[in-house]
Amino acid sequence: MDVTLIYFSQTGNTRRIAEAMGEVFRGAGHATRLLSLKKASPQDAATGDLLGIGTPCFSSQAPTPIKAFLQNLPALDNRHAFVFATSGGAPGRVLFDMTRLLQHKGADVVGGFLARGELHHPAPCLQGRFPDRPDADDLAHARRFATAVIEHVSDGRTGAVPGSRPDTFKPRGRFYGLVAAISTDRFLRLTLPEPRPDPARCNQCQWCVYECPVHNISLQPNPVLGDHCIRCYRCLTGCPQKAFNADWRLGNLAILTFYNTTFEHWFGDAKPGERVY
Ligand SMILES: Cc1cc2nc3c(=O)[nH]c(=O)nc-3n(C[C@H](O)[C@H](O)[C@H](O)COP(=O)(O)O)c2cc1C
Ligand code: SF4
Ligand code: SF4
Repeated sequence: MDVTLIYFSQTGNTRRIAEAMGEVFRGAGHATRLLSLKKASPQDAATGDLLGIGTPCFSSQAPTPIKAFLQNLPALDNRHAFVFATSGGAPGRVLFDMTRLLQHKGADVVGGFLARGELHHPAPCLQGRFPDRPDADDLAHARRFATAVIEHVSDGRTGAVPGSRPDTFKPRGRFYGLVAAISTDRFLRLTLPEPRPDPARCNQCQWCVYECPVHNISLQPNPVLGDHCIRCYRCLTGCPQKAFNADWRLGNLAILTFYNTTFEHWFGDAKPGERVY
């Protein structure tokens, strides 16, 4: 089989899951390509026998860059595909978003996998949640899932891959489904603070220009943000000079209202006894 794994990953969690799965596909003798979303073209996704698409969860859904990529794919004509994601305690409809878009292109989605991923988010209430995830158990789980995918597809089985998350095919949880529905990029721009560059700290290295997933930053000669920020805060958390900041006084309250650990236990995915901080 020719396997292509395409992943969006800003802080490495989803990439680590993709790499663990890639090892399994390669180990089983399948030609396997691992591509970050930045380097992948729609044509990469349209060739081969099996396509895996991975992403972090943002705002209880699949982030705009991965949705835009899937929307722009050519027809996939019954090609086998699977989805995978990493998230904190409220994955909402992240897997289903990708499934729906792949199915819309004609792909046969055979299953979905989700692992926890440490949050590198600047909002004080989110910083460092689910530390060190994905951990060794999460990666072992990802490998088992990849093995199950190989067996399923190689044997021509129908239905979902054993161990696949049910919310791959049916969105789970009305509360975070609702949160996802209202959390459009425009809504996030209204409720969450804009990252503000500090020219005194910036050395114009261009890292943020390259790293912004929606090409919203230009250097003139200091960083200037455009109008289509998705509030991923990659510029803020990753700038080597720590040249971005944001005022979290209201944004932190807004996030805590929806993503407090009590709600994540009641309506989300957080398990009783699971280490959150
Ligand atoms: C901007 C942003 C929004 C996020 N929103 C959610 C969310 O709504 N629900 C959730 O469970 N996790 C959320 N997370 C956590 C990420 O999905 C998680 O940390 C993921 O593993 C990051 O993956 P990466 O390292 O591959 O970028 C969010 C993280 C960021 C940075
Ligand atoms: S990453 Fe930081 S230092 Fe580099 S250009 Fe952007 S703001 Fe300036
Ligand atoms: S400007 Fe910063 S926060 Fe906005 S989308 Fe780009 S990297 Fe993310």
